[in-house]
Amino acid sequence: MYSAEEPEYIPDCPLFASGSIVVLSKEFFVMKTILVLSCSPRKKGNSDILCDQFIKGAEESGHKVEKIRIPEKKIGVCLGCEQCQENGGICRQKDDMTEILEKMIQADVIVMASPVYFYTINAQAKTLIDRTFARYTAIRDTSFYFIVTAADSEESMMERTVECFRGFLHCLQGAVEKGVIYGVGAWKKGDIKSLASMVHAYEMGKSIE
Ligand SMILES: Cc1cc2nc3c(=O)[nH]c(=O)nc-3n(C[C@H](O)[C@H](O)[C@H](O)COP(=O)(O)O)c2cc1C
Repeated sequence: MYSAEEPEYIPDCPLFASGSIVVLSKEFFVMKTILVLSCSPRKKGNSDILCDQFIKGAEESGHKVEKIRIPEKKIGVCLGCEQCQENGGICRQKDDMTEILEKMIQADVIVMASPVYFYTINAQAKTLIDRTFARYTAIRDTSFYFIVTAADSEESMMERTVECFRGFLHCLQGAVEKGVIYGVGAWKKGDIKSLASMVHAYEMGKSIE
């Protein structure tokens, strides 16, 4: 956060002469624009709860956060027609992806959250990634966090799922993976509330500088 401390007075120093400008700040706070893409169809399900924990931490640190519940948006699957590559990044499908993609391009930080379905990301998360095809080259120098939730309690079993997100980042210029929240051992809606990943998510959000 911005902090301004009184400078130590140094007699005879020209900086302290009448009319001189003294820079008080030692640190600068840069507010980040954070976009949270919550892909589970279960509203207030385990990954969605972890998104909210992350958001709580990030907002407490002074950042601007927007969460989009992807399953509540109209997003068609990529048709692979490649028309978007020939007409300046405009997809022939007129749906909510245009607005979401613009927000992804503008964000400093993107959080991608998915439940683990058959040891990979769910269809909503994959559809979202595929539909960035129209303008994915414009998503540059963005920091990413991943949130995954699963019934399985082994973190190592989440790697295939996390690798799906990493494959997306591999295609983006300047993308940096900043952290993964493993919401393991959570099956039923709300199971996550008693698990340590709640604290991990909050702290990861809070740690954004
Ligand atoms: C279609 C489907 C497939 C699933 N596949 C797996 C799986 O492969 N491994 C696992 O550990 N949990 C699996 N689960 C359980 C979910 O990952 C778990 O309930 C998770 O907490 C859901 O997160 P959510 O509440 O954010 O949707 C599956 C659940 C569903 C509905």
